[in-house]
Amino acid sequence: MDIEEFRAQAHALVDWIADYRAGIAARPVQAQVQPGDVLAQLPAQPPAEPESFDAVMRDLDAIIAPGLSHFQHPSFFGYFPANSLPSSVLGDFMSTGLGALGLSWQSAPALAELEERMAEWMRGMFGLSNLWHGAIQDTASTSTLLALLCARERTTNFGMVRGGLQGEPHPLVVYVSKYSHSSVDKAALLAGFGRANVRVIEVDENFALRPDLLEHAITTDRAAGLVPCVVVATIGTTTTTALDPIAAVAGIAQKYGLWMHVDGALAGSAMILPECRWMWQGIEGADSIVINPHKWLGVAFDCSLFYVRDPQHLMRVMGTNPSYLQSAADGAVKNYRDWGIPLGRRFRALKLWTLIRTEGVAALQARLRRDMKNAQWLAEQVRIQENWRLLAPVVLQTLCVRHEPPGLQGEALDAHTKRWVDALNRSGRAYLTPATLEGRWMCRISIGAYPTEREHVAALWETIKEISDFEFQISDFRFQIEASNLESKSEI
Ligand SMILES: Cc1ncc(COP(=O)(O)O)c(C=O)c1O
Repeated sequence: MDIEEFRAQAHALVDWIADYRAGIAARPVQAQVQPGDVLAQLPAQPPAEPESFDAVMRDLDAIIAPGLSHFQHPSFFGYFPANSLPSSVLGDFMSTGLGALGLSWQSAPALAELEERMAEWMRGMFGLSNLWHGAIQDTASTSTLLALLCARERTTNFGMVRGGLQGEPHPLVVYVSKYSHSSVDKAALLAGFGRANVRVIEVDENFALRPDLLEHAITTDRAAGLVPCVVVATIGTTTTTALDPIAAVAGIAQKYGLWMHVDGALAGSAMILPECRWMWQGIEGADSIVINPHKWLGVAFDCSLFYVRDPQHLMRVMGTNPSYLQSAADGAVKNYRDWGIPLGRRFRALKLWTLIRTEGVAALQARLRRDMKNAQWLAEQVRIQENWRLLAPVVLQTLCVRHEPPGLQGEALDAHTKRWVDALNRSGRAYLTPATLEGRWMCRISIGAYPTEREHVAALWETIKEISDFEFQISDFRFQIEASNLESKSEI
């Protein structure tokens, strides 16, 4: 492809994306494909001769787009939002178009310095003090792994340069809540702590970590000769958006010398609203924080902000300094390769830059407030509806609900919940994520896709009631038929 063809095709692609976004509401939210359907349409071998880009675009239309569930759809209420606002898509284009690679400051000075400035802008938007220093990682999973590696090395006084964890005389312990994200568990295992040294702390009636039990676990471990190392608290847990008590956990972490990492992957975005900052009151007492602007805020995936209080420590854990990457500027600049795992760095800061500059902070705040209001409106509808139950406080934009028709309990109720959510998703009219809470199935409704207005939430509620009622009646009918079949068999 020469540059003039690139110019023409890039215009066509942007038109395609704009049409896709403009017409997205007419598409089924959940991909209407079966496993293997997409694969079966893709040739097993690559083409030996060049194909036209038009042919690729035809397949984008015919194979790829229908093979996706649409996160940017106004009726997307699954998982957590993964908003990719058009303004940040342009930043992503810039990044790929520039083809810059951050290996060192010298390899791409603007990449490093825009990242520094964006981390500062965001720090101010979140209301954090300037004692925090941030870098952009790919995901919260990576950021949390970094936090646990930093914690491990602080506790062992850089055991990695000796025998590593294997050389430690006593096992190090990680403390997490029962509702921490699976990425926390994964990070603990990858960082070498071992399953046996991950303590899962029980939660209170709002599904938030109980600090009294945390302290008890730490003192018990100390008495047994183990070494408490790190605690991970979450604001906005994945299941219910519960808020672990940050100030209390920070107090305990400081008292016993633990690293404290705060997972604000989703809820961190809400800290751009001053009225929400009570949710992480005490945050200045933590050692590290992760916030994913690629969730609710609107930055195209992937963009995860990782803040630390002590960047020197992070750099000591992550630093490398091979001769081929050294430059005369090294003493005076930030080399972000020393702030994370990969050497090569994408120019992710552009996505934040284009989003924040062209939306403005006030509009970002207004959208998040809209979503929280919509969540409160829906919570009220659920509260007053017979046979429906709201299972957790609605503090942000996610509701945990259950349809509880009379007579259904336990596994039969679980089966009903999974059936109606599956039927709704298959209908393509909206997209929801079921999950277990305290061992029983329920349905999460996560509001906050950027095109979602009140009308879409209202339509969702009507659809949910219609499909759940229908599924209940059908299964009740099936049950009656089966019962009468059994009766007639026993009469024979
Ligand atoms: C609370 C929380 N932490 C971490 C993650 C993992 O995020 P990522 O996909 O950026 O690794 C999620 C994902 O939804 C989450 O909800």
